[in-house]
Amino acid sequence: MSQHPQDKILLEKEAKYCSWGDTVHYAKEIKIFNRCEGSFVFDRNNTSYLDLQMWHSVANFGYKNERLNNIVKGQIDVLPQLSCQYLHEEKILLSEKIALNVEKTFGVKGRVHFNIGGAAAIEDAIKIVRNHTKKQSMFAFTGGYHGRTLGATSITSSYRYRENYGHFSDRAYFVPYPYRFRCPSGKSDAECCDLTCFKDFSKLFESEYYSIVNPKTKNCEYGGFFVEPVQATGGYIVPPKGYFKELKKLLERHQVLFVSDEVHMGFYRTGKMWAIEHFDVVPDIIVFGKACTNGLNPLSGVWAKEELINPDVFPAGSTHSTYSSNTIGTAAALGVMDLIEDSDFATSVPEKGRYFVERLKTLQKKYPQIGEVDGLGLAMRIEICQKDGRTPDRELTDRVVNIGLEGQLTAGGGKPKGLLLGVGGYYKNVFTLAPSLYITRQEIDLAVDLIDEALRQGLSLK
Ligand SMILES: Cc1ncc(COP(=O)(O)O)c(C=O)c1O
Repeated sequence: MSQHPQDKILLEKEAKYCSWGDTVHYAKEIKIFNRCEGSFVFDRNNTSYLDLQMWHSVANFGYKNERLNNIVKGQIDVLPQLSCQYLHEEKILLSEKIALNVEKTFGVKGRVHFNIGGAAAIEDAIKIVRNHTKKQSMFAFTGGYHGRTLGATSITSSYRYRENYGHFSDRAYFVPYPYRFRCPSGKSDAECCDLTCFKDFSKLFESEYYSIVNPKTKNCEYGGFFVEPVQATGGYIVPPKGYFKELKKLLERHQVLFVSDEVHMGFYRTGKMWAIEHFDVVPDIIVFGKACTNGLNPLSGVWAKEELINPDVFPAGSTHSTYSSNTIGTAAALGVMDLIEDSDFATSVPEKGRYFVERLKTLQKKYPQIGEVDGLGLAMRIEICQKDGRTPDRELTDRVVNIGLEGQLTAGGGKPKGLLLGVGGYYKNVFTLAPSLYITRQEIDLAVDLIDEALRQGLSLK
């Protein structure tokens, strides 16, 4: 469809006045959207695009969720602004809800601290770890992504995020993520994972010569391990069941704190409130953001065990941002917590995820280029490869994304449609699917048909 004249003018202005330092210009096809609803966004021509990434797992509860929108509208009329040095009801009640949720789930008491944006909350978590352990260095995973502030970048593995910004003396020690499809230990039958990569890591704690620990004192140079329970930007990788349990035991022996970065996978993306719940591990710190407000206002935060965050050890002013516990964000997040309590996402999300993955596996039989389909709840991955089903095919992946953005797909009948796909993975060849948690069966069927059509077209353009 031809470009709307108004969009053409806007894009000319964008090219001139907007910084290109964000992620807009990753895509060849640059779109302007002007409306959203449920699982769809719409362009000015009123073409609908089925969104399978939902703002990278921010709008978990659907676009324009009426219940949540009304809460924000109500808050705007009552207490839209308040300096964060004073208190308001929603902040206190939200902290209580999150703290009680964690206590009920993991049996540990703690407190909540707010900020804005995932990276800022990661920074706060780094401070909490440093403050408690008096250690400056952290472990993190290869393929991990924790944000782009300087501190969060230092524990994010990709060098490209650090490349232009000088020396990162606090760069984390990066440990291979248990990525079965591309096993870091080179095992060919990744289905029979025997946790070799964990065993290799734990070996480093055996001798001082491996540079991590003094085995005599058990003192480790590293204070915390920042973990994505399902690796998000890395390609929605679901680790083998026993990995984190073993890791936690090892870390406990050396007083290294386990930080669960739930910014991407928290709030029922995986079918549980916190993705780490799937792995039988009690975290020391949880970092959250994104979906906690359904994207209605920036809010993020950290839950930490009482001994790490009580006012004696983490006193007033330890960390802060002017917007940190803003009234609209906290009201929206409280609304999200209430919505969760009134819903049964623990049942519906795994059910929908199973059906979606089943349908995608059928598609996989048709296309050898789909190397892997996997998922946990509604966090799903499609790894796109060459015909051998292993060699990553970034070009094909990009072509399919661009075809979706053109808005000309015919699957499902009616007006031509578009498809929004998120891409991640070590080779940028993985569709990272994060649909609305309210996605219907009909929409899942449509999604699979649209992927099928876009993939078919992508292959024919080769
Ligand atoms: C796991 C994880 N942590 C932290 C962040 C950073 O969050 P933000 O972009 O809100 O700063 C992200 C963002 O995608 C993420 O996926």
